[in-house]
Amino acid sequence: MTHVLGVGAIGTLVAFHLKRAYPGSPVTLLLRNQAARRSWIEKAGERLTIRPLRPGLHEPTPPKDTSATGCTGTQGGFQYEVLDHMTDPGPIRRLIITTKAHQTVDAYAQLIPRLGPSSVVVLLQNGIGVQEGILSRHYPSRGGSLNTEIPHFVLGTTNHGCYREAPFRIVHAGLGEISLGSQAPAAPEVQATLETLPGVDGLNVHTESWPALSRRLLVKLAVNGFINALTALFDCPNGDLVTHSRYRALLDFFCRETSAILTKHVEAQGCGTATHCASTTDELARSLTPEALRTAILHTCRLTAANESSMRQDYRAGRQTEIDYINGYLTRLATRYGLPGPYNQLVTRLIADRVGHPGRQLLSLAQGSDGQGAP
Ligand SMILES: NC(=O)c1ccc[n+]([C@@H]2O[C@H](COP(=O)([O-])OP(=O)(O)OC[C@H]3O[C@@H](n4cnc5c(N)ncnc54)[C@H](OP(=O)(O)O)[C@@H]3O)[C@@H](O)[C@H]2O)c1
Repeated sequence: MTHVLGVGAIGTLVAFHLKRAYPGSPVTLLLRNQAARRSWIEKAGERLTIRPLRPGLHEPTPPKDTSATGCTGTQGGFQYEVLDHMTDPGPIRRLIITTKAHQTVDAYAQLIPRLGPSSVVVLLQNGIGVQEGILSRHYPSRGGSLNTEIPHFVLGTTNHGCYREAPFRIVHAGLGEISLGSQAPAAPEVQATLETLPGVDGLNVHTESWPALSRRLLVKLAVNGFINALTALFDCPNGDLVTHSRYRALLDFFCRETSAILTKHVEAQGCGTATHCASTTDELARSLTPEALRTAILHTCRLTAANESSMRQDYRAGRQTEIDYINGYLTRLATRYGLPGPYNQLVTRLIADRVGHPGRQLLSLAQGSDGQGAP
């Protein structure tokens, strides 16, 4: 049994393919409130639909469920629970969270009583810092007696591209993959999760060692740190960051600053495992040089040239963005290690304050640098 919290674009994709792959193993959608339930039942509850990668791919329409109590039920072959109406919630063994980064720590709160040491929580947010946020907010005395209550965490990242065209109906515009890893891969519950999810056709899940996943997350943090904020602030598609020369100085400035921050972070953290620690730390550091970050960023800009980043979409629509878990996270690391972080600090503030499209402020930051890697 798997529960999915955050049935938006990625949550719908995951739930849909999970149920198809393991029809005998229930998938429960955790719906925020009665409005979400009504939407599920009335508008789209007959089926989850995905297009256009596999035209016509959807679940057959089952009869409407009449046994629903208002807070739980079965619809379209999925079980659902309405979170703000739950009266007798049971334990959750496997929880996949696909809310946005800034929604996750709060959304997690209502599930704490249902999660224990034999639960596995899979986090699929962009950025870094969600797990830290959950631990510091919800398990403040970890390391003490509460330690046994903490579930196992599996961290993941995805480059699937999808968006909602209606509730529970998504367009899967870019076939990608999901990478997963855990700091406790040998725990039986974690092992079961890491073996089950790669079997889901359509999601392209693979598992990695913790050092390999850490490297992927840090490089992706840098890639998102450059592309997401700039495309929002300059209101442009990803490819513009490569084709317009005015962004080059910013790219160099960003890469020097971010490389210094992430390299210091890796040194401070160690590699997280005793085995081959030195070599994995060295390998990790090599993928975080300014040049390596620059290459990764330019590669992604070219690969996704026509795409509109999620931050640009959120910024433009006036929605909260994930900036606190991307450039905001980098800014906090810079402060922690006593390093300069003017670029990350400035874009975090510009996005958070919604100052419009402050191109000049940003460009003059890069022009005022000495170009010697000392932002
Ligand atoms: N979409 C992509 O192509 C893509 C690609 C790579 C990575 N990602 C990452 O994946 C994560 C999810 O992105 P997304 O595009 O799937 O976002 P999304 O479409 O906005 O989905 C988030 C879902 O979480 C729900 N939610 C929020 N708070 C909740 C709560 N307290 N209880 C229950 N449900 C709650 C939202 O409900 P409401 O609609 O009611 O707010 C929404 O359905 C993000 O970190 C994103 O950066 C997405």
